[in-house]
Amino acid sequence: MPGLNVHAFETLTDLVSQLGSEGDLPVRASNQESEVVSPSSEDGESTFNHIDLTEIKGQAASRRAIEIAAAGGHCLLLSGPPGSGKTMLARALPTILPPLTFDEAIEVTRIYSVRGLVPPGGGLIERRPFRDPHHTVSDVALIGGGQIPRPGEVSLAHNGVLFLDELPEFDRNTLEVLRQPLEEGVVHISRARSAVSFPASFMFIAAMNPCPCGQLGNPRKACRCAPAQIQKYRSRLSGPLLDRIDLQIEVPPVTVAELSDDRRIGESSRAVRERVASARRLQRERYRSAGILNNSQLAGRRLKEFGRLEPEAESLLNAAVDKFELSARVYDRLRKVARTIADLEASGPIQSHHISEALQYRTLDRKVWI
Ligand SMILES: Nc1ncnc2c1ncn2[C@@H]1O[C@H](COP(=O)(O)OP(=O)(O)OP(=O)(O)O)[C@@H](O)[C@H]1O
Ligand SMILES: [Mg+2]
Ligand SMILES: [Zn+2]
Repeated sequence: MPGLNVHAFETLTDLVSQLGSEGDLPVRASNQESEVVSPSSEDGESTFNHIDLTEIKGQAASRRAIEIAAAGGHCLLLSGPPGSGKTMLARALPTILPPLTFDEAIEVTRIYSVRGLVPPGGGLIERRPFRDPHHTVSDVALIGGGQIPRPGEVSLAHNGVLFLDELPEFDRNTLEVLRQPLEEGVVHISRARSAVSFPASFMFIAAMNPCPCGQLGNPRKACRCAPAQIQKYRSRLSGPLLDRIDLQIEVPPVTVAELSDDRRIGESSRAVRERVASARRLQRERYRSAGILNNSQLAGRRLKEFGRLEPEAESLLNAAVDKFELSARVYDRLRKVARTIADLEASGPIQSHHISEALQYRTLDRKVWI
């Protein structure tokens, strides 16, 4: 931060021994321009692992889905065969979110500083965090905790993206503990004699293969899994967490011909980020007095008030709910996502084409689960 000399210590013991010594205090960040540090899961390493959308060929539908997710702050699940580009899409998400505000950057830096993850010489963290913990992550590492409570992955992802790759491989109990931060944007850690809260407001994105061999639904490769295996694999996911995911999409594999075709380069992250920023501005204005920030937070009374549907849109939504036997929760999710699609168009009430697009992002509900 300009004008400040910051002295950072790994432990209290380091501080005490430094205070008792004659030498100069080590200066971590000087009053130079603050450096930009990208927080990634490779702790301490400043790896710029974000991917610009121009690097992703084809995938029009998936690109659109991450744009909607970013615009409304929605959770997203990507399902597709190995190598179809799920990880790439997830890594592109931070690049289409608006840049961190100064206050957000301070929040992020504070959390990283508590964990001792601001690299030596690093100043204010100015890039949106992207965290992708492995499926073997423990509850404490994910949520935070320990003898002296420390922020976990959900807090390290604060103001950024938490990506869980291979979602069905995660322990079910581990996934359960995600529900509270997903709903409240903070995580409460109870200790025997005290309770600590850390900020944990992040965009949640997950990826999975459609079946154990990964090829189900791939037009070019046959799936080798027995129906019972597929059922078992997917049942690991069922339940309240899946219910909370607003957008579910299938990511088809891109052909070699598509990959080598330079005409398939789409819009850059910057162009998409501008649309996302406009849609977010609309939401901030609309919800100014409602105490929420974006469409993903609409619920109950607020969803009724702000998720107004044109009559045709309402009939379409009701017909879809009947036909696909969708739950009341899914009904609400569709309405929220449709609100975001409408905001990307700066449209007033939700129209039927917003609903029909939102319906495309419920692939797991629409399928019979073999
Ligand atoms: N649409 C695409 N445009 C450009 N490159 C792509 C695209 N899809 C995949 N690739 C290439 O394929 C590689 C694998 O993609 P990625 O790791 O994102 O796949 P994945 O779906 O996450 O696979 P897995 O299920 O194995 O984790 C990428 O590193 C990239 O080089
Ligand atoms: Mg991957
Ligand atoms: Zn299979």
